Amino acid sequence: MIIAVDGPAASGKGTLAAGLARHYGLPHLDTGLLYRAVGLAVADKVDGPAFESAAIAAAQALDAGHLDDLAALTAAETGVLASKVAVIAEVRAALFDFQRTFATGPDGAVLDGRDIGTRICPDADVKLFIQADSKARMERRARQLEARGVAVDRYALFHQIEERDARDMLNPHGGFYQADDAHLLDTTQLGIEAALRAAIAIVEKAMALK
Ligand code: DC
Repeated sequence: MIIAVDGPAASGKGTLAAGLARHYGLPHLDTGLLYRAVGLAVADKVDGPAFESAAIAAAQALDAGHLDDLAALTAAETGVLASKVAVIAEVRAALFDFQRTFATGPDGAVLDGRDIGTRICPDADVKLFIQADSKARMERRARQLEARGVAVDRYALFHQIEERDARDMLNPHGGFYQADDAHLLDTTQLGIEAALRAAIAIVEKAMALK
């Protein structure tokens, strides 16, 4: 079974995808980490002319099986870098095979990202599109960062999330939209457990109808 989970920054898609993977005993790939690793690799070039070619080279050389520095990868600034490298078509192309191979393993998989249901796994058994309003997403991300001891400027964080949403949604190579056959799950009013129960219910219903 392949489950595709897409949604905007801080929508809870990663937590839900991890929960679904645990529930169904499937491997899980957070595809945002791949873009984050590329972004991090070119952090010093982001405002220079060599940025694009460096990002392509970094994506082509990425050892996607070994993404170790989770603290740096999950930092908010790395998310911004990731959304900048994600607009480069050759970067997306270089990361495509790893994601496809992961998805088509013997047991299936749960992948989360922006283009899983539209580009990476258009034939996924179940597609979820996770939504939550930007204020709720900002608040969740703020609490996550604060739990790690990071001081948070909520106003700046809100704008950063909105800016990233806009870049991701307008990305001409991104494929970030709700697939026709994706199930919408709005988690604005839901805690983690309730959201996971709702996601499992969607998967069960979709599989029963197959
Ligand atoms: O899901 P995330 O916040 O970790 O993703 C970081 C950035 O990577 C996001 O702003 C856009 C990009 N991304 C993408 O373009 N396609 C994906 N499948 C996953 C992430």
